[in-house]
Amino acid sequence: MEVAQLKYNLQHLNLVQQIQFLSEKFKDKIVFSTSFGLEDQVITHLIFSNNIPIRVFTLETGRLFPETYYVWNRTLEIYNRPIHAYYPQTVAVQEMVNLKGPNSFYESVENRKECCYIRKIEPLKRALVGNEIWITGIRAEQSVNRDDMENLEWDEGNQLIKFHPIFNWNLEEVRSYIKNNNIVYNTLHDKGFPSIGCAPCTRAVQPGEDFSAGRWWWEDQSKKECGLHEVK
Ligand code: ADX
Ligand code: SF4
Repeated sequence: MEVAQLKYNLQHLNLVQQIQFLSEKFKDKIVFSTSFGLEDQVITHLIFSNNIPIRVFTLETGRLFPETYYVWNRTLEIYNRPIHAYYPQTVAVQEMVNLKGPNSFYESVENRKECCYIRKIEPLKRALVGNEIWITGIRAEQSVNRDDMENLEWDEGNQLIKFHPIFNWNLEEVRSYIKNNNIVYNTLHDKGFPSIGCAPCTRAVQPGEDFSAGRWWWEDQSKKECGLHEVK
């Protein structure tokens, strides 16, 4: 189905109805990726508490924060629904680490991209295979690039439709939804981490700094994409 047609179908539906509509339209071919960040916890709550049949997965890079594993575990306990973990290929990680050490990503952009490819991109491809629609927690205000995106779009690289259900929410809306619905969230968000990725590659931001300033902070702004979400 065309993106334009889908947009038309969604326009008069509320958020839960939109997710429900897509889950019926793309039965067994719809997935949601969570990194257990604030936005992802909102969407997880919407899916699980409304019993919507969407496969939820996470990319377990092996380098996540202890706080992230805590949220993951609590989320399983609270909703009693599966969250499928995709791990990197053992041999690929092993060879990279044996050759370059465990923290090669600090040494060059090339090394960092290699690590992101092995730990995230290749597993992502496996997670998306056979699916027609991929739901994410991306919001427009997260970066200049993302501001150009739309809540429903064709992903040429992965050959599927991407849907960002809370694309137009601002941070305050996300925070109040979490609070009002008593949703478990990563406490790093209260300690200056707006965006949370792998532990060695994420740090807190200073007041006034950009949403993603704490991700791969040692690199040039222009090179800081991990490749999960290609910029058009
Ligand atoms: S990234 O491209 O910079 O790493 P970001 O952290 O902003 O992405 O997250 C945007 C969306 O990408 C999340 O809402 C989630 O859908 C997906 N995502 C990011 N990291 C992961 C992960 N480790 N596992 C699953 N999904 C992820
Ligand atoms: Fe590796 Fe850092 Fe990328 Fe995680 S964010 S996959 S640790 S380079």
